[in-house]
This record gives sequence, structure tokens and C-alpha cells, in this order.
Amino acid sequence: MPVYNKPVIYYGIEKLVQAGIDKIIIITSPHHLEGFVDLLGSGQDFISINTGRQIQIVYGIQNKPSGTADGLWIAKDYIGNDNCVLYLGDNIFEDNISKHIKNFKEGAIVFLKRVPDPKRFGIATIDKNNMIIDIKEKPQNPKSNLAVIGLYVYDNTVFKKMIGQPMSPRGEFEITYINNLYIKEKSLQAVELTKKWFDVGDFKDLLEASKFYGNKYK
Ligand code: G1P
Repeated sequence: MPVYNKPVIYYGIEKLVQAGIDKIIIITSPHHLEGFVDLLGSGQDFISINTGRQIQIVYGIQNKPSGTADGLWIAKDYIGNDNCVLYLGDNIFEDNISKHIKNFKEGAIVFLKRVPDPKRFGIATIDKNNMIIDIKEKPQNPKSNLAVIGLYVYDNTVFKKMIGQPMSPRGEFEITYINNLYIKEKSLQAVELTKKWFDVGDFKDLLEASKFYGNKYK
């Protein structure tokens, strides 16, 4: 799906590559796998800032749409003992995240953005040290207007936290459940983004993003 002049997924991959990431596993459904492989291959269109050679893209299959935490679980063996960044492919944002990725050591980071329509998103409450104290998924009565955007940095304990995870009432393994386990450990840090952010899984944002990049690349 294009946003202005390139597929949505390119925006995310370019952002990760800019932050020094050069190994990516794309988790997709069996039905969409071929499209991604045709488009991205092994990552030949993206050059690593570390090696000057192409990045490596591989693929994982999620048989049913069973939630974001389930998608991350599929990447477990690929990630091995490393830390990881989870990027929801329908998100596009303008901030440079390099320093947050490079300085990351332990716990987890979620990235936040102030929004006018908080009922649409995961909504966070933070303390004065920028630590998250609460996240509610699509709350009826939002406690703040700080939306959790589709970008998360996790240490390797994320996989232990998924063992025994219950499914939510909507039948998904929710990433919000995992983030709440980091909150219990007081290790979920907040970073507020200040530039543009689009969640193009929404038609209005898809149009807004196309207009924004149309103007930017004019
Ligand atoms: C997901 C997350 C939500 C987050 C949003 C950002 O929601 O569950 O917490 O605010 O992405 O794009 P979804 O887009 O799957 O409804």
C-alpha cells in the first residue's frame, strides 16, 4: 500500500535503518507473505549504516491475527539473546530515534505522542521521571492524551514475560499486557515524540500521511 511515492513499509524500514538496525524479521500472514517477499526480497534496497552493505530481511509467518505479542513471539528464535525493537508496520513517524536505540540497555521503552482522539489508542500515564505507570488499551475514559505509538524497545526478558500469557477478551495476545509487566518492574520508560506521527491503519491518517509526504517531497 503506497503512501505518496512508496509503500508504507518502506517508511518503517528506513527509520530502523537510520537508527543503525540492519537485521529485520517481517512478521506477516501466509496470505501476504509473497507480496512482502516480492517487494523487499532479502533487503537489497536498504543499506546498513554499520557495514555499507545491504541489510538482512527475513520473514516469519503468523497464521492468524492473534495479536502483537503473538507476532513478537514468532520472532523469538531469530532474536535469540538480543534486545529488540518492535515496529508496527502501519505506523509512520518523523522523529529520529537513533539515540534511544543506541543508548538502550535494559527494561523497555514505549514512545508516546499527544493526540486529540485518545479512545483510538493505547493510552499511557507517566510520572515525573518519565516512567510509565499505567497503559490502558483503547480506554472509554482516557486518563491522558498520550497515545502509545507502534514502536517499542525491549530487553530479552520480553520473551519470559510472554510465557503463560492469557488471551484478551478480543482473542489476542496483547502487547499492552507485556508492557504492564514491565510497569510492575518499574522498568518501562516513556519517550515522547514531538514530530508528525501517522497510524495509516486508519483511512483519515492514510490520506493525511499521503498529503504530508506529497508536500515534503514536492
Ligand atoms: C496498536 C496498539 C495500541 C497503539 C496503536 C498505535 O493498536 O495496540 O496500543 O496505540 O497500535 O498504532 P491497533 O492499531 O492494533 O488497534
